[in-house]
Amino acid sequence: MTATSSGAVPGEPPAPRTVAPGASAPADADAPEADAPDAGAPTAGAPAAGAADRRGVVVLGATGLVGGAVARALRADGVPVLAAGRDQDRLAALAHEGCATTRLGEPALLGQDVARFAATHGVQGVVAAIGGWWIGDRLLDLDPTTWEAMLASHLTAHLDAARTLAPHLPPGAAWVVLNGAASSEPMAHSGPVSVTGAGLHMLVEVLRAEEPPGGTRFHEVVVDHAIAGDDRNLDPAVEVPLDAVVATVLARLPHDAAPGVVHVPARA
Ligand SMILES: NC(=O)c1ccc[n+]([C@@H]2O[C@H](COP(=O)([O-])OP(=O)(O)OC[C@H]3O[C@@H](n4cnc5c(N)ncnc54)[C@H](OP(=O)(O)O)[C@@H]3O)[C@@H](O)[C@H]2O)c1
Repeated sequence: MTATSSGAVPGEPPAPRTVAPGASAPADADAPEADAPDAGAPTAGAPAAGAADRRGVVVLGATGLVGGAVARALRADGVPVLAAGRDQDRLAALAHEGCATTRLGEPALLGQDVARFAATHGVQGVVAAIGGWWIGDRLLDLDPTTWEAMLASHLTAHLDAARTLAPHLPPGAAWVVLNGAASSEPMAHSGPVSVTGAGLHMLVEVLRAEEPPGGTRFHEVVVDHAIAGDDRNLDPAVEVPLDAVVATVLARLPHDAAPGVVHVPARA
């Protein structure tokens, strides 16, 4: 079991990460597109077979560990990124690194920014790395406020985002959701993560079942162990390198990627 130190305050919603990369300029959905050297030409159609897909990717939870690493890997490869999160400092840092940015939790604004991003760059897919680890009271002792906050962050935020973005996605776009081992393993004192993780798995399954042929491809990437280098993990028995998580996520984006659930292999 992965044990971390984050968000363990009973009665509080999950605490954000405390590591905030440098820049303090306000995040602006327009500015990074102007700054990004290769974020220019409209490429709304699917790429020719064999060609690298240079359409944009929307990363939900880009202010978090996994989302941030995915956003940076895509930018390093020249792919336009719309980074969505709530933490203003981390959004500003992503803007500084060439991402367009937008706020999560404000559907109208998110919808507007995604529409503008899609019109400029096209969209090949969405990566949803929303929610994180939590340790606290056992379920029977959990206060209702924490329960509601965990449902909102770990489950409802995913459905809200899918509803908001659906009208802006082209046929065959990928939607890649991150999940963890707690989704299939009952983890004592991390009950809200286990319950919402199981719900998130079924949410993705139902979204996939309800999608018509040729529609959005819903994928789930399950990280079964602690991610190496995440300082919130306490004494993890087994670790997964962050770059292996990123590679597994990115492999879901191309059109020929198999749909469904994939697990990230642990470090040998
Ligand atoms: N880290 C690990 O060792 C590990 C291991 C196994 C599985 N995973 C899985 O990987 C996924 C991502 O984990 P992570 O470690 O990257 O998490 P993280 O660093 O805690 O980041 C969570 C992200 O979700 C956003 N978020 C939280 N509550 C939200 C809400 N109510 N509405 C909208 N956005 C919200 C945060 O935004 P702000 O920070 O801007 O508020 C942040 O961008 C999770 O599914 C987790 O189960 C992680």
